[in-house]
Amino acid sequence: MTDKTRQYAHLKSRHCSAVLELSDHEAPLWRYWGPRLPDGALPDFSLRDARATPTFSLEEDVPLSLFPTFGVGWFGSSALLAHREGQDFAQAMTGCEIIWLKQDHALRVRMTDPVASLVVEIDLGLAPETDVLTVSTKLTNMGSGVLDVQWLAAAVLPLPTQAKTVRSYTGRHNSEFVMQETALTRGIWRRENRRGLTSHDAFPGAVTSASAADAHSGLSYGAQLAWSGNHAQLIEWLEDGRYQWQLGEWLAPGEVRLGLGESLQTPEVLATCSLAGRNGVAAGFHKAIRSRLTWPDAEMSPRLVGINTWEGVYFDLKPSTLFEMAAAAAEAGIERFVLDDGWFQGRRSDRAGLGDWWTDLSVFPEGLGPLAKYVNDLGMDFGLWVEPEMINPDSELFRAHPEWALQIADRPLLTARNQLVLDLTRPEVSAYLLDKIGSLLDDLPIAYLKWDHNRDLTTAGSLGRPAYRRQTQAAYALMDEIRQRWPKVEIEACAGGGGRIDAGVLQRTHRVWTSDCIDAISRVAIQRGFLQFFPPEVMGAHVGASPAHSTGRSQSMDFRAAVAMPGHFGVELDLRQLNLAESETLKGWINLYKAHRDQLHHGQVWLGEGDDSVLWQAHGQADDLLIFVYRLGPMTQKWPSNLILPMVDEDKVYRVEEVRARPSLHAAAAPVFDDYRSKGVDLHGAWLAQQGLPLPPRQAETCLIYWVRTLDQLS
Ligand code: DGJ
Repeated sequence: MTDKTRQYAHLKSRHCSAVLELSDHEAPLWRYWGPRLPDGALPDFSLRDARATPTFSLEEDVPLSLFPTFGVGWFGSSALLAHREGQDFAQAMTGCEIIWLKQDHALRVRMTDPVASLVVEIDLGLAPETDVLTVSTKLTNMGSGVLDVQWLAAAVLPLPTQAKTVRSYTGRHNSEFVMQETALTRGIWRRENRRGLTSHDAFPGAVTSASAADAHSGLSYGAQLAWSGNHAQLIEWLEDGRYQWQLGEWLAPGEVRLGLGESLQTPEVLATCSLAGRNGVAAGFHKAIRSRLTWPDAEMSPRLVGINTWEGVYFDLKPSTLFEMAAAAAEAGIERFVLDDGWFQGRRSDRAGLGDWWTDLSVFPEGLGPLAKYVNDLGMDFGLWVEPEMINPDSELFRAHPEWALQIADRPLLTARNQLVLDLTRPEVSAYLLDKIGSLLDDLPIAYLKWDHNRDLTTAGSLGRPAYRRQTQAAYALMDEIRQRWPKVEIEACAGGGGRIDAGVLQRTHRVWTSDCIDAISRVAIQRGFLQFFPPEVMGAHVGASPAHSTGRSQSMDFRAAVAMPGHFGVELDLRQLNLAESETLKGWINLYKAHRDQLHHGQVWLGEGDDSVLWQAHGQADDLLIFVYRLGPMTQKWPSNLILPMVDEDKVYRVEEVRARPSLHAAAAPVFDDYRSKGVDLHGAWLAQQGLPLPPRQAETCLIYWVRTLDQLS
């Protein structure tokens, strides 16, 4: 017991603890982050007191801290990579002060490096109600020379020895949230994104689990960066068997150069841990994201059923077509009509027009007013698509202001989808966009903006400097300004489907477009990845056409709708092409969604895997669940395995009822399944949890929905 001045800072939430060991001459050491420790559980000795000096090693070793830095004893990855003209390349923190912002739940750590002339402030909050740890870091240059910053971790988190695997998410346009599971080994696991926005191919977060953990139980950890630009994360094995997990913004060379007194503030990291497996991690994230969403009128209103025109008619916009589509939508019970791409000046295809944000009078001679009014008169909200950050070389805007595109002198401009990216860091560009979008919002009864971003950033320079982070900040500022001036308008974030899905954009928008792939089989996987990090009410989920435009596969209307139903439900097809039976079926699903959206969008989500091509997800509370059982492939067993429901209360009796969008044309396959449809079947929670719910045989690409409630809920 050498260090008598040792103290702990113990952050607490309902299920989690984070413990730092403090001393004023170094950055706080990470002692613990994991399931909640009771008061009195912290050991009465310092970390180093239980670490013998290994051979050929530093006499006083440097364990993982909240801010491990290169060059003065720490051999792992540094939380900071910076220098001043080649000097001050090694840093070490001292003068550590702790300021409790909320006793037991939030604190600020302030440290200095008097040699390298730096101040670092790290905010940590562990929200009692969500179990989510929020961490962000601010670095200030107190020296006279410019500080070149290559990396500043937003958070450095400790992972215990038990962490064995990491689940991360990759993908591309039309194929978001492709899960990959990797073993953690003695080395570094690393993901980076340099595409200028969140990206399809590297989601800025991951989930790590102990080997015994699964979806429902065991120790799991999750972290995600609340940022819509470049990012990097690494998990590194440490020589004491633990790991460090760093997340932060990926910075381009020369992107951050701090002058005297200037600071770099990182985005926030949201991180959580759970003994209830990956679903426990998801539950923490869902609560945290919900608490950060900013709704018009402070509270989320029921998520309206929308129709989006894109896959119905693409660029073939004619007022008469749209009026017919609107009438058909209202008749089907749809509550919001969103006019997608193609309505503005010169935009007859994806080759021209971006930047010219006024209605193309050659298509809409009377403007969009009559259509918006018609939509409103039918009782629906009117929504409009924009892609503010983009410009086509073939546009009036580009012809007038070619210098407004992000560019690097003497480098060719690289188009993607025939478009370039506007330099929002130029005040005149943001002012132009505010003016043009503002005029639309002033002139039309727009309740909803679909805000798209259909390409990665290249040659992202502005006035000779890298502009990635400033571009993201400027996009946020534009969104914030629009939210402030038109507070009733909801915004959907879209980026070629799910290229901008993150906790940062979701602080200023109200849902995201999950993917341009609406094939229901593909969507099951995409949505499961999404739901690991975000709650279902912000997950744009539409019923598309069959065959699906993205994959060419065909699925029944029932299956397409059942896959979309748990999210923010909508329709993306030409309703005029449906036959009577399909229209009636879709109407049935719209009504079913309306009846259950409250439960779907306020509850917890459990994702589970059954046997033999069955995946399921449950929404609600343990005593009142809506369970979707998706059969993706044909049965290979004679009788389906029972569905084990680990989340139910084993002391209660439940009534199981099948929920349908329309009455079945076929007799049930056995008496119990008949009862599910008629009077319901009572089953004990212990039976459901241990022996499981009997399931009827089903064909591939079908879904059954069960409402499973305790008898107390029914009375
Ligand atoms: C990409 C989006 O993901 C689609 O939904 C659609 O809005 C198109 N852009 C329009 O160009």
